[in-house]
Amino acid sequence: MRNDMKTILIDREAIKKRVSELGKEIARDYQGETPLLICILKGSIVFYADLVREIDIPVHFEFMTASSYGSATVSSGVVKIVSELDNKIAGRHVILVEDIVDSGRTIAYIKNDMLTKGVKSLKVCALLDKPDRRVTDVKADYCGFVIPDEFVVGYGLDYDQKYRNFPDIGILKPEVYQK
Ligand code: IMP
Ligand code: MG
Repeated sequence: MRNDMKTILIDREAIKKRVSELGKEIARDYQGETPLLICILKGSIVFYADLVREIDIPVHFEFMTASSYGSATVSSGVVKIVSELDNKIAGRHVILVEDIVDSGRTIAYIKNDMLTKGVKSLKVCALLDKPDRRVTDVKADYCGFVIPDEFVVGYGLDYDQKYRNFPDIGILKPEVYQK
C-alpha cells in the first residue's frame, strides 16, 4: 500500500500522540458524566477504537452508518443515514466521532437531525478537518489535525473501500484514482 502513496501526511506516532491528547481533553470536559460516543462508520472505526481507550471516564458506545461519497473522491452531497438511534440519544451527552470533516454536509445533516431528538448536549470530535472545502458552517468541537485540500487515505479513511487498514495517513498518488 505504501507504494500507492505520494507522501505520508501524518504518521502513526503523530496520530497516537494527538489521539491521546483528544482523549484527555474529552475526559476532562465530561468529568462526572457518561457521554455516548457515536462512531460514524466506516471511516471512523480505527480512530474511534483508539480514542475511546484514551478517555479515562466511563463512556457508552453506539455506531451509525452515513455516506456521502460512493466511490468518487469528491463528496456527492447526498447524506445517507443507514441506521437511526433516536431512542438511544434522548437525554444523553452525545459526541459524534468522525474521521474527517470535508464539505461538512455529513456532520451538519447528522447534527441537525440529532438536535431534534432531545439530546442533552451534542459535540463533534473529528480526527481531520479540511476547512478549504467547507460548504456548511459546521466545525468540530474537538479536532485532531487541520489538513490541506488533498485526498487522504489510511487510519480508517478509504479510497473505494481500500487503504482503511493502512496505519498512517497518506496522500494517494493521483494515478491511483485516475486509473
Ligand atoms: P463531508 O460530508 O463532505 O464533510 O464528507 C465527509 C465524509 O467524506 C467523511 O466521513 C469521509 O468518509 C469522506 N471523505 C472526505 N474527505 C476524504 C478524504 O480525503 N479521504 C477519504 N475520505 C474522505
Ligand atoms: Mg469514505
